Amino acid sequence: MADNEFSPVPGDKPCRPISKKTRICLGVSLLVVMLAVVVVVGVLKWGQPHEHLRWNGTGTTEHLSEIVLGRCFLYTRIIQPELRDKDCQKIWDAFKNAFISKNPCNIREDDYQPLMKMANQTVPCNKTLLWSKTNELAHQYTRVRQDMFTLEDTLLGYIADNLMWCGDASSSEMNYQSCPDWKKDCSNNPNSVFWKMVSQRFAEAACGVVQVMLNGSISKTFNKDSIFGSLEIFKLQPEKVHTLQAWVMHTIEGVASDSCSSSSINELKLILSQKNITFICQNDYRPARFVQCVKNPEHLGCRSIV
Ligand SMILES: *[C@@H]1O[C@H](CO)[C@@H](O)[C@H](O)[C@H]1NC(C)=O
Ligand SMILES: *[C@@H]1O[C@H](CO)[C@@H](O)[C@H](O)[C@H]1NC(C)=O
Ligand SMILES: *[C@@H]1O[C@H](CO)[C@@H](O)[C@H](O)[C@H]1NC(C)=O
Ligand SMILES: *[C@@H]1O[C@H](CO)[C@@H](O)[C@H](O)[C@H]1NC(C)=O
Ligand SMILES: *[C@@H]1O[C@H](CO)[C@@H](O)[C@H](O)[C@H]1NC(C)=O
Repeated sequence: MADNEFSPVPGDKPCRPISKKTRICLGVSLLVVMLAVVVVVGVLKWGQPHEHLRWNGTGTTEHLSEIVLGRCFLYTRIIQPELRDKDCQKIWDAFKNAFISKNPCNIREDDYQPLMKMANQTVPCNKTLLWSKTNELAHQYTRVRQDMFTLEDTLLGYIADNLMWCGDASSSEMNYQSCPDWKKDCSNNPNSVFWKMVSQRFAEAACGVVQVMLNGSISKTFNKDSIFGSLEIFKLQPEKVHTLQAWVMHTIEGVASDSCSSSSINELKLILSQKNITFICQNDYRPARFVQCVKNPEHLGCRSIV
């Protein structure tokens, strides 16, 4: 093969006649080409946003830091000013550090320990309200009864309510595109580990009489697979909690029924008797019924409660 069959790089004429020189020349040209490829690929990759892993759940809530900081200040300065000494910037940092630059399928409770410690709060005895499948009514009720607390009325629950967050191991950014779904991807994701931990701590800290608002208009009024039925109930401390009082609420439009004597409530009764916690059940607890009736004053079920 003749030297001149290789197409010369412009300006390389001096190295053509001698074969040793040609080889060196070729080597140098090859290096130049490789370097160019590396540079081009690098520029292309750099120019694009970091490619995150794809998950099946919704991504991090936009403006997460602003929302968390804003909610923290609102809670500790306006809603519960006795917590005004909390440092919201540090709380946000601890929150972020729990999941940033970490594999979102390998989050451990340890990751949240600093946050839990920093945002601790004492809920007074007799003021804990657990709920299952009564999300809206339970929170409407505590808006009126401001001395009572659902998990979402505590600092940590308030900060994180309805938000989503995750990062990934190869980047210090948040993943706004997608986050792991509890069922489809993995259970040890930043969101699920957080809620499991705060629910558990909330139940463990409860004392005196604990209330739970359940939904009498669904088949499993007590559901063993719910957070209440699988976690919270087992974390209640019999040394501190002497009574669990269930309020079984029916949807206003639905038929009134005696759900307290249903078989699912009997399961709940059994679990509590094994824990030596007294169980009381009430159908359509009146004060909560009033809250339902504010929106439906003309409904038959509301006319008779005056
Ligand atoms: C938080 O924990 C610290 C240390 O255990 C304790 O001194 C403080 O009273 C707690 N704060 C609240 C609001 O419970
Ligand atoms: C909690 O409620 C029980 C029963 O109603 C009552 O005996 C107890 O004094 C209450 N405790 C507090 C701290 O209010
Ligand atoms: C009971 O659950 C149904 C179905 O999820 C819901 O539409 C209804 O609002 C719930 N009732 C109460 C009282 O929360
Ligand atoms: C999750 O998403 C991936 C990629 O988008 C898809 O291939 C997979 O089928 C999804 N898994 C489930 C259980 O939906
Ligand atoms: C429940 O109370 C009974 C009688 O007071 C006692 O013998 C039993 O050990 C208690 N069980 C638990 C789980 O605390």
